[in-house]
Amino acid sequence: MTERWSPESWRSKPVQQVPEYPDPKALAEVEAQLATFPPLVFAGEARNLKKSLARVAAGEAFLLQGGDCAESFAEHGANNIRDFFRVLLQMAVVMTYAGAVPVVKVGRIAGQFAKPRSSPTEKINGVELPSYRGDIVNDTAFTPEARIPNPQRQLDAYRQSAATLNLLRAFATGGFANLGSVHQWMLGFVKDSPQSRRYKELADRISEALNFMRACGLDLESHPELRATDFYTSHEALLLGYEQAFTRVDSTTGDWYATSGHFIWIGDRTRQLDHGHVEYFRGIKNPIGLKCGPSLKPDELLKLIDILNPDNEPGRLTLISRFGADKVGDHLPHLIRAVQREGRKVVWSCDPMHGNTITSTSGYKTRPFDRIISEVRAFFAVHAAEGTHAGGIHLEMTGKDVTECIGGARAITDEDLNDRYHTVCDPRLNAEQSIDMAFLIAELLKQQRGGKSAPMPAVAGF
Ligand code: PEP
Ligand code: CO
Repeated sequence: MTERWSPESWRSKPVQQVPEYPDPKALAEVEAQLATFPPLVFAGEARNLKKSLARVAAGEAFLLQGGDCAESFAEHGANNIRDFFRVLLQMAVVMTYAGAVPVVKVGRIAGQFAKPRSSPTEKINGVELPSYRGDIVNDTAFTPEARIPNPQRQLDAYRQSAATLNLLRAFATGGFANLGSVHQWMLGFVKDSPQSRRYKELADRISEALNFMRACGLDLESHPELRATDFYTSHEALLLGYEQAFTRVDSTTGDWYATSGHFIWIGDRTRQLDHGHVEYFRGIKNPIGLKCGPSLKPDELLKLIDILNPDNEPGRLTLISRFGADKVGDHLPHLIRAVQREGRKVVWSCDPMHGNTITSTSGYKTRPFDRIISEVRAFFAVHAAEGTHAGGIHLEMTGKDVTECIGGARAITDEDLNDRYHTVCDPRLNAEQSIDMAFLIAELLKQQRGGKSAPMPAVAGF
């Protein structure tokens, strides 16, 4: 028998990765206040995303999900948001055109603040302090005061998410995402980069196609799918007290939805079957993700799927594999076979970032671009061998010209990392590396499609 679910039923289970707030009363007050605030997203939007993801599960579209490892209060600003959105659009256009499939665009943004940590403490030069857990919990500065979890930060994270989402909605529908602007999306520094010629050629071909359609008498201005795009937000729903405060009943269906973002996922460290995170996720109707790392066994995955998607609803569950380039070939086939054997409908997405983190000789946490690429290639190859659909990509990336991952077309070296290493958590692909990745995926998508003609683009936007 299934136990009754409520937005707070997770509280009666063990919960991993909980910050130690010194003042529980102050925390409860903040959570009560958050529960009175307007939702960030609406249930209908989450349902639309679920429909688009159902098309991904059916092999008719591709999921592009990306953004910061951790959003930060310090990096909050219009330029950062614009540059991220622009590079994501560029990637989507490369993948849509060259790969000839609709691309579902989801940002790790407007709520991606809480971070799970491998160790509860961090030691520098013999000094041990609580780990940084994301700006929604504490501060990166390495002092005892900064590392004390402060509930007021949840209010700031909410406000930043609301402001970020407001600008993203304006960009997505207010003209910026117009396909006719495909040339204007070229970032300053991408202009003279190795990819700029490739991107410009593609942009020229798209402009020609639009001109051709115009010449044929099509009134492009009357096609909203060319003027606007669908863009969705996502984050790891780690801080369950915050999530509970934004769990609301949808008045049109009577169902519970997480309204802190359209899509939320369970991290690799918090997916225990009988723990609080799985309990919370089973009761909300949003499309959700589950990170699948090397310790996840096929039978455990099937049990998780039973709990998280009992009705086998396509688009509800995205499995985000993150094994590392050297492990994906050993682990992924077993998970895919178990899911196929049981006839479970899922989206398979590849996070090629979290299994490929190393410490460079100079001491920076980094990721070699060639290993990232190699996991993506292996992911597509495994799906081709198993006869399943490589459905998506999940990236830590930024629109800025940072130096955090080594390699790529401009061959960032260990010595370069020190130049512009800005992340507050994991190393991200910079704009050029992200575009490189998009061209690679477009190639792989073309191969995946084989000789088949492109499906009709039923996902709104390009
Ligand atoms: C993340 O996506 O930032 C993350 C912590 O991933 P994982 O749970 O897969 O380690
Ligand atoms: Co990360």
